[in-house]
Amino acid sequence: CGICGAVGIRQAAPVVFEGLRRLEYRGYDSAGIATLVDGSVERRRASGKLDNLHALLENSPLTGTTGIGHTRWATHGAPTTCNAHPHGTSRVAIVHNGIIENFETLRRELENVGQVFETETDSETIALLVDYHLQQGLPPKDAALQALRRLEGAYAVAMIFAGHDGLIIGACHNAPLAVGFGEQEMFLGSDSLALAPLTQSIAYMNNGDCVLLSAQGADFMTFDGTPVERTVQRTTLTAGAIGKDGYRHYMEKELHEHPLVIGQTLQRMIDPATRRVVLPELPFDLATVPRAVMTACGSAFYAAMVGRYWLEEVARLPVDIDVASEMRYRNPPLTPGSLGLLISQSGETADTLAALRALREKSVHILSVLNVEHSSMARESDVVLGTVAGPEISVASTKAFTAQLTVLACLAIATARSRGVLDPLKEEELVSALLDLPSRTAEIFKQGEAIRNMAKIVAEARDVLYLGRGSLFPIAMEGALKLKEISYIHAEAYAAGEMKHGPISLIDRSVPIVATLPSTALFDKTLSNLQEAKARGGRLLIFTDTEGAERVSKIAEQSVVLPHVHDFVSPILQAIPVQMLAYEVAVLKGTDVDQPRNLAKSVTVE
Ligand code: G6P
Repeated sequence: CGICGAVGIRQAAPVVFEGLRRLEYRGYDSAGIATLVDGSVERRRASGKLDNLHALLENSPLTGTTGIGHTRWATHGAPTTCNAHPHGTSRVAIVHNGIIENFETLRRELENVGQVFETETDSETIALLVDYHLQQGLPPKDAALQALRRLEGAYAVAMIFAGHDGLIIGACHNAPLAVGFGEQEMFLGSDSLALAPLTQSIAYMNNGDCVLLSAQGADFMTFDGTPVERTVQRTTLTAGAIGKDGYRHYMEKELHEHPLVIGQTLQRMIDPATRRVVLPELPFDLATVPRAVMTACGSAFYAAMVGRYWLEEVARLPVDIDVASEMRYRNPPLTPGSLGLLISQSGETADTLAALRALREKSVHILSVLNVEHSSMARESDVVLGTVAGPEISVASTKAFTAQLTVLACLAIATARSRGVLDPLKEEELVSALLDLPSRTAEIFKQGEAIRNMAKIVAEARDVLYLGRGSLFPIAMEGALKLKEISYIHAEAYAAGEMKHGPISLIDRSVPIVATLPSTALFDKTLSNLQEAKARGGRLLIFTDTEGAERVSKIAEQSVVLPHVHDFVSPILQAIPVQMLAYEVAVLKGTDVDQPRNLAKSVTVE
């Protein structure tokens, strides 16, 4: 969910709405804004995308110079208008990101003293708790602090109060919130991106901070009311609008940016003069880290899985890996000085951020591979390696994924060198393979027709199986995830060799099998697995390369022939056509490609 607030001299609702547009990556189930109109709380809320709220505001504008807004990704309660934020009473309105874990207890207590709930949300509990204290005669600041001290969980909130024009109270605990400083106006936002069109002067709030905003400035304090100072920083973010450049969807545009993004990322990581990978100065020594722990969510997790193959194979570094929602509670025994490797496009995913903090507790060095440089994870990492992918708007990740892979490949090379397990000739071979990628990946787009033909078969299916082996297994997983995310077709990925231990029983003509099978060292093994599927009536749709094409053509119902590249970088190239396939299927099915149902680009709740 995303939060925005504005207090000052101009009308607040349009300012808040523009902030919400830039926070839509955090959810788009429903949205709402509240302002103070002649001292009274007024709200406009709409289910569905922000456009619905926009239409509502056109018909029924909100005046007032103090306002808060919210774009929601539903946790407790369906994404209806009634459950949309802001929540509140005639005395207070609040917006909330996160989950209040003790809301049921608080709700019972509040109901016992006569408070009446209108929604199923945990967020309304905050509103009615603050409202209760206001009814007891406490002023807004004290009512808010009393309430905040009772809340358990991870949350960021913003509140406005009837009769208190010119006041917004914000607070956060384990969820980000930033304060923007303007001229005679102040802003609040879930991230600095939301505030970029308004101001470049930002103060990030710490865990357990509360802030009182007025047009004149900000008073920061802890939940017990002790004043604290927070530093104002200049961000370099600008308001630049991002267009589709003539493409039908952002996803299509972003797919076409793969070669550029891989090239830009390599430029950042490889010195053209020496053709060697160069890392920024590290506060630890890669040569002596005993082990790496990798964690991420969604596509970024599959990038981590490929990274594990590379770090183990090339750098001989033992790697443990898990999805962040598991890692954060796993409590793995770790030698202090190990390397925590976090991967995230947004740097805001709540589970990955929590896993980062859990690893930090174990005295692990934190290296994050991030696309958004001003993110929460960036602020809490020892080192950030940037994926130079530019803004990724489509909810389903594309170019950020190949940029993550590119960074991880470079990291594996640098780690191998510092551990003394990579001779210079081998390093030159791997670096050449990487530098070859921008031109090789650009050739993939010539296969658009073949991929569209494959999409016609997939679009008819109810279930699809994806197969790959070795470092291409995570690419099969990425293909299956992408298909699920944007076309709503059920898809599962298996390590090709594991198919015979279960999924083979699913195979018949109605379940197409998509395989990534370029001519790498595991080509013959994977080919045998696919033959086992074909022998049982399976329809094989295969991504191969120029060297594997002939043998693949003997078993495939359809194949797409891609440029041949070195085994090492093969997963980076093969990721692109599986993403393109999912895109073409989604277009055929007519889904909302850029903002698929139920998803958010970055899930900022646990
Ligand atoms: C969401 C998105 C996925 C993305 C994942 C991780 O679930 O729908 O596409 O891979 O979050 O996001 P992050 O920003 O941490 O890479």
